[in-house]
Amino acid sequence: MLPKKNVMLGLVFAVVPLFHASSTVMAADAPTPATVAAPAPTPAPAMDPAKMRERGQILALSCSGCHGTDGKSSSIIPSIYGKTTGYIESALLDFKSGARVSTVMGRHAKGYTPEEIHLIAEYFGNLSKKKN
Ligand code: HEC
Repeated sequence: MLPKKNVMLGLVFAVVPLFHASSTVMAADAPTPATVAAPAPTPAPAMDPAKMRERGQILALSCSGCHGTDGKSSSIIPSIYGKTTGYIESALLDFKSGARVSTVMGRHAKGYTPEEIHLIAEYFGNLSKKKN
């Protein structure tokens, strides 16, 4: 009887620290409440460049309906293909702000943040570089 009890006790002592350790891990994963946040906002972790390119490509999908696949238009809508990142980015920012008058581009560009516009412009800029 006594040895069995000792084994049980041993088990409890072996298992309790495990539970303790796992609850500490969970606490570390839980979002920090706003009140505990550092006074200066910590900068968002830099996104991996491959992920950023992929995001640009996904965002750029919405352009193909009007500007054609890869931005090569077969209609009266201008082609984006062959234009530089800088040109596309400033055009979109001007459409967004209203500095450049447009029919639909102003409405469309307003849906993107400047960061997203940059990713889209980079996607088309690189596409043109690659295939030229
Ligand atoms: C609903 C159709 C439509 C969609 C969607 C669209 N565009 Fe346009 N885009 C146009 C039209 C039409 C113009 C000509 C300006 C105007 O009247 O709005 C234009 C003009 C532009 C221009 C200026 C081209 C030049 O030669 O100066 C750029 C750059 C451009 N679009 C980029 C984009 C990008 C990038 C997207 C996707 C995020 C996009 N457009 C989505 C219709 C569209």
